[in-house]
Amino acid sequence: MIETMRWNEGFVELVDQTLLPSELVYKDCRQVEDIAEAIESLRVRGAPAIGIAGAFGVVLGAGEIQEDDPDAFLAQLEKKFDRLAATRPTAVNLFWALSRMRKVTEESRGLSVEEIRGRLLDEALRMQQEDKEICRKMGSNGSELLKDGMTVLTHCHAGGLATADFGTALGVIYAAKEKGKKIHVFADETRPLLQGARLTAWELMQNGIETTLISDNMAAWVMSRGRIDCVIVGADRVARNGDVANKIGTYGVAISARAHGIPFYVAAPFSTIDRNLPSGEDIPIEERHSEEITSLAGKKIAPESVHVYNPAFDVTPHTYVTAIISEMGIAEAPYEEAFERWAKSKGLE
Ligand code: MRU
Repeated sequence: MIETMRWNEGFVELVDQTLLPSELVYKDCRQVEDIAEAIESLRVRGAPAIGIAGAFGVVLGAGEIQEDDPDAFLAQLEKKFDRLAATRPTAVNLFWALSRMRKVTEESRGLSVEEIRGRLLDEALRMQQEDKEICRKMGSNGSELLKDGMTVLTHCHAGGLATADFGTALGVIYAAKEKGKKIHVFADETRPLLQGARLTAWELMQNGIETTLISDNMAAWVMSRGRIDCVIVGADRVARNGDVANKIGTYGVAISARAHGIPFYVAAPFSTIDRNLPSGEDIPIEERHSEEITSLAGKKIAPESVHVYNPAFDVTPHTYVTAIISEMGIAEAPYEEAFERWAKSKGLE
């Protein structure tokens, strides 16, 4: 497994995912602004990876502040939190990670600036390590749903590079493989930024999984030919009722799966479940630059002045979701009850 990012004694190295699959290059991030830019430009992307990058961003931000007085230091640190929180709105893992880092600062009253910096770094490293363990547990839980010889369709990229490593949806496939099951994956290319073609197909092949790449508009047809046994996708935010925000196009895949009687599974860690939001109606959907639609690989493919709508995510209503796989187990509807059970077993309200 490729490590998505690593702490290297004072700075962060992260795989620049915009360069894959042509080049596997780690980019150095030395300042909070480098991390913010990396998140905005999708050098680092995928909900859990964005969260961990955000946590390391706070660590870098804390290192930039020239201040010995802890109160003045913490006041300046707030601006770093604000910068990171303004990068991408949909994946709740970013806000979950930032609130864990903020809790560290709240519990650091009375400590020196150096001690606070140390605690922030410890927390970011802990989150990264926990994510690795969570992905493996989630993969193992989900692998029970897969039988030897099955073909799975996935959309966007929910693999190792979207997390600390191992992945969510792809983690389920890797875990099934580790248990000796042969799984074939159909990967949607995932327009406009081609995470499926550039990242999913590449990562699956690196890990020895038989992979077939299709363009997004082929998924329904492939299902109708009886070639898909189930769909597994990741998520950027899951509302209390089980509505799922994920990469644009996921909703269409879910409708097609339902039309063909194919199970539609979502693999997401507990940190992706936003119990504050009653339904998907309330999930903020990021809109991105029109050029992502009007250009392909740097070449114009549409008229200059055409109107463009470019939502980066959509929301699949919970009624289309067969089950949600997490490190806590596998939930079926009613999702709210399962989420409450999981929260209780974690000692949360
Ligand atoms: O815009 P991206 O590439 O960050 O979108 C990522 C996705 O939609 C993934 O499917 C999601 O974050 C799940 S990642 C484990």
